[in-house]
Amino acid sequence: MLRKALLLASPLLSLGACPFGGEQGVLPDGHPAVAQETYAAALGDLDLDLVRSDLKALFLNSQDHWPADLGNYAPFFVRLTWHCTGTYRSSDGRGGCEGGRQRFEPERSWADNTNLDKARALLWPVKARYGDAISWGDLMVLAGTTAIESMGGPVLGFCAGRLDDKDGSESIELGPSEEQEAVAPCVLNGTCVSPLGSTTVGLIYVNPEGPMGNPIPAESALQVRDSFGRMGMNDSETVALIGGGHAFGKVHGACPAGAGPSPKEDPLNPYPGLCGTGKGKDTFTSGFEGPWTTTPNQWSNLYFNDLFNNDWEVHVGPGGHHQWRIPNATGPMAGIMRLTTDIALLHDPAGIYQKIVKEFAADQAKFDNAFAHAWYKLTSRDMGPALRCLGQVAAPPFPWHPSLPARSSEFPPAWPQVKASLKEMARGYSKPIFPADVFSGQSYYGGLFLQLAWRCASTFRQTDYRGGCNGARIRFSPEKDWPANAELDGVLKVLDGVKARFGEALSWSDLIILAGTVAVEEAGGLPMSFCGGRTDATDGSGSELLTPRLSPGPGTDLAFLVDGMKVMGLTRREFVALVGGGHTLGQMHASRSGFISGPWTSSPSRFNNEYFTNLLTEVYQEVSVQSGEKKYKAVGKQLFMLKTDLFFKADPEFRIHVEEFALDNQAFLESYRAAWTKLVRSDRFDDPTGKLCE
Ligand code: HEM
Repeated sequence: MLRKALLLASPLLSLGACPFGGEQGVLPDGHPAVAQETYAAALGDLDLDLVRSDLKALFLNSQDHWPADLGNYAPFFVRLTWHCTGTYRSSDGRGGCEGGRQRFEPERSWADNTNLDKARALLWPVKARYGDAISWGDLMVLAGTTAIESMGGPVLGFCAGRLDDKDGSESIELGPSEEQEAVAPCVLNGTCVSPLGSTTVGLIYVNPEGPMGNPIPAESALQVRDSFGRMGMNDSETVALIGGGHAFGKVHGACPAGAGPSPKEDPLNPYPGLCGTGKGKDTFTSGFEGPWTTTPNQWSNLYFNDLFNNDWEVHVGPGGHHQWRIPNATGPMAGIMRLTTDIALLHDPAGIYQKIVKEFAADQAKFDNAFAHAWYKLTSRDMGPALRCLGQVAAPPFPWHPSLPARSSEFPPAWPQVKASLKEMARGYSKPIFPADVFSGQSYYGGLFLQLAWRCASTFRQTDYRGGCNGARIRFSPEKDWPANAELDGVLKVLDGVKARFGEALSWSDLIILAGTVAVEEAGGLPMSFCGGRTDATDGSGSELLTPRLSPGPGTDLAFLVDGMKVMGLTRREFVALVGGGHTLGQMHASRSGFISGPWTSSPSRFNNEYFTNLLTEVYQEVSVQSGEKKYKAVGKQLFMLKTDLFFKADPEFRIHVEEFALDNQAFLESYRAAWTKLVRSDRFDDPTGKLCE
């Protein structure tokens, strides 16, 4: 028996209270937490060593339909894994091997992924043997990692736990696509800039031949630093990865004829290869030809030794592209080659890559260590915090795997008392330290509590599981300095007393989320379950990646709004409910966002669907503000909207939800509860199925 029966045969997990928005009951089939737990159980029962030994046998079993170079597919699988994971970009957390989206459009037809359909086809017998116990995403990561190990390379571990997507839609923003063009246009393909991950849309990183195909190593070095930087790699990691990857295998470009149509162009016969037989020695993949070293199936630092100790000259290879060789070399050395991006490591204008090349050439152990760490980083960032890694996890957690301190032994606080204090404060006396809003002559902090909780939670990125309120990094730079968070430190000061009263038992992050939750309930929202147990980070590190990354330009704002919503993992209905609900309470503040102070609704301390009715019935006119951010005022009334609010009315796909909520207060209240609990639980990797929920 390959694996034990799944512990969680039923897709429904019984819970006393539903932490995900419903009243009582179970998590629905298909809920991410259920899918994740089901997969974790299956993976836990899987003998990963057995999978690895199957993979090692596969590497050495050359098939006639796609013969292995020198009888070993291992280098081919290193490339597969690198191309699956190397799509990760830190600008918005998109990319990486999670979802296994290299199987789908657009990724499978990217020029960089030429012939990787063959690698995935070779993997099928292994996938078939273990079925749902290992996802495609995990299997593709394990294949390259095992390949490195099989050739004697250093490996730290295997961070598993990826769920497969059903299509490639999550890669559409990577381009080429209309969605990518709207938020991250690339004026001249080949010179694309961040937030895109690569210099060329359709490559995962940078043109191997040099910028725009020009074999100029110094300029190529700049592109390499830029594009690996967008993947979150420093100089040492960059050099280790390039030289470690290219310790193995070869490039393929037997003749200039090309690889033939991509899967998108010809799904039945993709990349047939237009040179001779199209396979084996006739393979055309990138159009370059030759190995990097004389021992391409064996781990070594020869890549660096040969690079550093020889002169290199550019020439046009058999595939018609510029590549580099050692002048007048004889014997096996006459066959080795370098790409312009490899030679670039000797011509870094900053003088840094050269030093690292020299170090790695002289010190195998140093190189081993650097490569092992860089590979583990490359193959695990898409998984987010260390807690999400399953499988053969390397210890300790590394900086690229954000982690939080353990829960205090004093946890939990007396939740009813905490809630009572917050409820009292929402409409309590204004504190001199940060004055409350005043509505109908009454002090009101509820809107500010909700805004603080929203700003804290809405940093969450579903794309790479970073951000969220767990850790309460909103207390520290850089988050506290973001313009959108202006004056929220004042709201924190208002909450100081509650924090002091309950001490270590109550974390700031739980307090912030609970304050927002209580504010909604107290104002008329439906009762919500609360799942305590968050802990507090000791500084703001990690948040720099979460900085709002795109400044909307004229006419593009709707696309930016939708993009931000998708990064958070929210649907349009959830997003409208959350933003509309948030703007139901409290008001805009002149001190923070231009010279207008005023509410969205006539009852800014009551939680109901008035925001939606106002949006559809009032006539809003633009009013100018100092900050440049446009605001809109209802004709004849002191009611306001932001430009983003008006998009909900103008965009038909948002508007259907606005109409629904305007007509049905109960539907709004229920949708808000579901969306809020989803958002504030999205970073609870410590308690995925809500065992700590009240
Ligand atoms: C192959 C470019 C970084 C691993 C190739 C090929 C190109 C290329 C053009 C040839 C594909 C073919 O014709 O079959 C680049 C560039 C890089 C880069 C421009 C960055 C500047 C990496 C990294 C790794 C890696 C970081 C892994 C850590 C490999 C392997 C092969 C390969 C193993 C050989 C595959 C085989 O033998 O079939 N690379 N690469 N590369 N690359 Fe890279």
